[in-house]
Amino acid sequence: MIRRRSLLQGAAAATMIARASVAQTLTDEQKSALKPSNADPTLAPDLLLPPKNMAWWRDAKFGVFVHWGLYAIPGKGEWHMFADKVPAAEYAKLAQEFNPRHYDPTSWARLAKDAGARYMVLTARHHDGFALWNSPASYGQFDAMHAAAHRDLVAPFVDAVRGEGLHVGLYYSPLDWRFPAYFRPRELPENAALFKQQTYRQVEELMSRYGKIDILWWDGGWLAHSGTDADAAWFWEPDKLNRMVRRRQPSIVINPRSGWQGDFDVEEGPAPITGPIRRRPWEKAFSLSRAWGYTPDGDVMTSDQVVRLLVDAVIRNGNVIANVGPDKDGVIGQRETETLEAVGRWLKRYGAAIYGTRPGPIEPVDGLYGTTQKGKSVFLHILSWPSEELRIPSLPARVVKANNLSGGAVTWKATDGGYTISVPEAARGRPVTIIELQTA
Ligand code: GLC
Repeated sequence: MIRRRSLLQGAAAATMIARASVAQTLTDEQKSALKPSNADPTLAPDLLLPPKNMAWWRDAKFGVFVHWGLYAIPGKGEWHMFADKVPAAEYAKLAQEFNPRHYDPTSWARLAKDAGARYMVLTARHHDGFALWNSPASYGQFDAMHAAAHRDLVAPFVDAVRGEGLHVGLYYSPLDWRFPAYFRPRELPENAALFKQQTYRQVEELMSRYGKIDILWWDGGWLAHSGTDADAAWFWEPDKLNRMVRRRQPSIVINPRSGWQGDFDVEEGPAPITGPIRRRPWEKAFSLSRAWGYTPDGDVMTSDQVVRLLVDAVIRNGNVIANVGPDKDGVIGQRETETLEAVGRWLKRYGAAIYGTRPGPIEPVDGLYGTTQKGKSVFLHILSWPSEELRIPSLPARVVKANNLSGGAVTWKATDGGYTISVPEAARGRPVTIIELQTA
C-alpha cells in the first residue's frame, strides 16, 4: 500500500492522505509533491518578467511535459533510485543501457501539437542527477554523452519543438541524490560546494547552448527532502541563480520552484481545481499516468478528465501542463497518445474559448461554471447542469447574442440581475458545454 502510494501524484496523494489517519507518515516523494511554494516575494522582484513577456504563456493555456531519463529503464517512476534505496553506483550502471533506439523528438512535438499544446517541457535533469545533454559540468560525467546513447538528447528536442512551432521549455532539478551534501549541506561543506557548482554550471550550459529557451521549470530547490524551497534559499541563492539565467535568456518564463517566486505559480497533481480567479498566472501540472516517469501499468487519465482540469484552470487564470513518460526507447505509450489526441480534437472545436482568453468577467462557481473572455465575447463554460437551466449573474456589458460552440441550440433570457441559459440535453457538450455570449 505504502509503496504504491509513493508513486501517486501530488494532490491525488494529498486527497488520500487527508482521508487516511492523520498519524500516517509521508514518504519524501509525497512531501515533495505537497510542498508549498512559499518563496519570499521580496526576493529579487526586479527579476519578474513584465506582463508583455508573459503574454504568450498566458495565451498558450496548454503544454505537454515529458519526464524521461534512466528511470524509464526500470519503469518504476522517476523516484525509483531514492524510493527503492538503489545505491548511486548501482543506479549509474543504467547509463550503460540507456540507448533510446526510437528517440524521435519530432514525433513527440507533433503529438503535442496535435494535442493542441503550445509548449513542451523536457526534464533535462531530474533528481537522480543524470543529464540528458552533453554536460561537461556533470559530476562524474553522468550524462547522455557518456551513456550508451553517446549523444546529446536535449539539442534534438529543442530543435524539434521549435520546428513544430511550439515554445520550448527545460526542467532542471538542483536536487541530486548522489551528493551526500544534499542531505547534510552544513556538515559536508566540500561536497556541498561541488553540488552547488554543478547546478550553477549545468544551468548555464542549458541556458547558453541551445538558442532561445522559453521556459525554465525548476523543481527540487530544497534540501534533505525537508522544509521548502524558500528554506533552502541560503544555500542555492536563487536570486543569484536566476539572475544568471536572465542574463543568458532575458525573456525566459521561470517557475517558482528554485526558492525565487518565479513568473507563475505551480499546483501539482490531478485533484479538482476550486476557488476564485487567482491573481498570479499559475499552472496545474499533472501526469497522465501513475508516476511522472515511465510506468508500464496503472490507469491513464481520460481526455474528459484532462479537459475538465483545463477548463477549471483557464477560468481561474491558469494553464495546464500534462505529463507523459516515454519508455526507455523514447516511445510515448499508446494510451497517453490517445488521451492527448482526444484533447486535441476537443481543443480544435472549443479552442476559441480557451486560447488567448483571460478569466472572468464573473467568478467561477466550483463544479458549476466559469467564464473566459476575449474581445466582446464572454465564454461561459458549463461544467454541470443544476437543472434544466443555469442562472448566472449579469455581465459588465449587455449580452446581444448567444452561440453554442457545440453547434447545437441554446436559449437565453435576461432575468433580474443576470441571465438564464438553457441547452437541450442533446446539444450539450462533453465534458463541458461552452456558450459564447456576445456583448454589446
Ligand atoms: C515533484 C516530484 C517530481 C516531479 C515533479 C513535477 O516535485 O518530485 O518527481 O518531477 O513534482 O511537478
